[in-house]
Amino acid sequence: METTASVLGPSRPPVHVPGGIARAACLVLALVLAGCASRSDMSGVQPRAEGTGGAIRQQAFGTTPAGDPVTLYTLSNTGGMEVEVITYGAAIKAIRVPDREGRIANVALGFDDMAGYAGQTAYIGAVVGRYGNRIAQGRFTLDGQAYRLAQNNGPNALHGGLMGFDKRVWAASETTGPEGPGLTLTYVSLDGEEGYPGNLTAEVTYRLTDDNALTLEYRVTTDRPTVQNLTNHAYFNLKGEGSGDILDHELTLDAERFTPIDATLIPTGEIRSVAGTPLDFTEPRRIGDRIDADDEQMRFAGGYDHNVVLDRGLASGLTGGLRRAAFVREPSSGRTLEVLTTQPGMQVYSGNFLDGTAVGAGGRAYGRRSGFCLETQHYPDSPNQPSFPSTALRPDAPFTSTTVFRFGTDGQG
Ligand code: BGC
Repeated sequence: METTASVLGPSRPPVHVPGGIARAACLVLALVLAGCASRSDMSGVQPRAEGTGGAIRQQAFGTTPAGDPVTLYTLSNTGGMEVEVITYGAAIKAIRVPDREGRIANVALGFDDMAGYAGQTAYIGAVVGRYGNRIAQGRFTLDGQAYRLAQNNGPNALHGGLMGFDKRVWAASETTGPEGPGLTLTYVSLDGEEGYPGNLTAEVTYRLTDDNALTLEYRVTTDRPTVQNLTNHAYFNLKGEGSGDILDHELTLDAERFTPIDATLIPTGEIRSVAGTPLDFTEPRRIGDRIDADDEQMRFAGGYDHNVVLDRGLASGLTGGLRRAAFVREPSSGRTLEVLTTQPGMQVYSGNFLDGTAVGAGGRAYGRRSGFCLETQHYPDSPNQPSFPSTALRPDAPFTSTTVFRFGTDGQG
């Protein structure tokens, strides 16, 4: 396979900070953030921009079933972290980060080849759209006009339909900037595709900074009113992909409320407090602690598969800056993942439907609960739920959102 590499050049932040000081500042901030595992107000936290020495390279990654070529991009930073992204589904293929001893592992589930991606049904790593998550009965009405979608998940529409954005090849362009190497992926979804109105342009930019943060910036435009809800469907296992289940991971959610579901996993419309429920992760808890509790919500989903209302939530509007949504720590490796987002909700999914049929990059089967997803998003079924934040997209108002996956370690040996 042909590989081309380009090291990011002279782009620098306007004020030069000596590397040692920058690294020390980074470490202090990382420790402070790690210490925020219990509930805290992270309002206004922005991704930092010390990154200067990253690189991006590309290589061929086979073809789709229709014969279209797919490209694999590898972003790397000066700390040895690497992120692989493919143009098929704009999918995150791998994320390599150190544990507390400095040992690198791939913490994102993914496949070695295009056959793995074309054959999977779990949306592993992909950007899902045009509407991530469910729309009840595959129907919605917008501006008085009724639309019908494929019912590809029981009675409901899921993740954009029969051939959603996860199964499309996105156009790629490399970007460089003071923050680190970036890759912008663009997909144009035509009017009527999968039943949705409007020619819609979806753009996601992945950027890797030197402080081990992967930033995802979304921008979505349309030429006719439509609905949209893009999210990334990466599955994480901070022990390393293929290392068994994720039940020992400790999860903290900055969410005091969630949207309870019915037996088909559609929100009932209620916004319920997490207090006293298995969804209460306002203090760090093992994912496995209450996953099989005798609780209707857990039974409906076979574990966690719920949208949480992030604390910025309904009350304070949707346009605020980045806030922390989740913090995850895996005790044996010490790896941590912090999720920041501008979105109002997040699907917390414990990989209940992974069934061992998909064999991952390391040759190991992905069994039930072998990865978890934190899908930052608007709430499921919003087009049918007038009280939820709107997912309508109109020609005069592009949609933008930002999500950050920041990796670290707990420093405990
Ligand atoms: C959904 C799950 C679904 C999974 C597909 C998640 O976003 O909430 O119910 O099975 O995606 O991989």
